[in-house]
Amino acid sequence: PTTNNSSSPDPSNLSWHDLWEVAMGCRKCPLCENRNNVVFGDGNRNADLMFIGEGPGRDEDMQGLPFVGKAGQLLTKMITAMQFTREEVYIANIIKCRPPNNRNPLPEEAAACLPYLKRQIQLVNPKAIVILGAVPLQFLFNRRGVTRLRGTWLDYEGIPAMVTFHPAFLLRYPQDKRKAWSDLQQVMKKFDKVYKP
Ligand code: URA
Repeated sequence: PTTNNSSSPDPSNLSWHDLWEVAMGCRKCPLCENRNNVVFGDGNRNADLMFIGEGPGRDEDMQGLPFVGKAGQLLTKMITAMQFTREEVYIANIIKCRPPNNRNPLPEEAAACLPYLKRQIQLVNPKAIVILGAVPLQFLFNRRGVTRLRGTWLDYEGIPAMVTFHPAFLLRYPQDKRKAWSDLQQVMKKFDKVYKP
């Protein structure tokens, strides 16, 4: 069989090392067929702040790292504007393998992959999460409408989660960067970081 829904262990109790190893060999959905790399996540495993995106694009699939393409460059700017460094936060996605033509993940792909991300969140145990756009909003919270929900805090198992626009969206609609910045400033406040122009 090319996919395997039955025999890999439940990620919910795995250590970082075992979680990484299981994810690297994952064949739970058809996206495993065409991947170059599993994009597990990157950054500080003890981070206070975590960012959750959608899934790997071409650059991420080639390098095996999240947010390394154009959208990633903007995310890095967003992180540094928030007075964090990329190295001190943790970055992960809803799905770990690139969908064909960068389409959105299908519900069954997200469902197959989500246990890995949920365990990552549990292990990082951040003080706050930033939800980047519609895909993590849909699959982590079963909510729709980034335009309405951005700038608001949701609760992910006791962890405050700020909804904002995805950086790829902001590249297409730069006029919405100001709104995203006000969302991110709310996150900064939680960490007693104050924006001084
Ligand atoms: N967009 C995402 O949502 N995630 C990545 O890792 C890269 C681009």
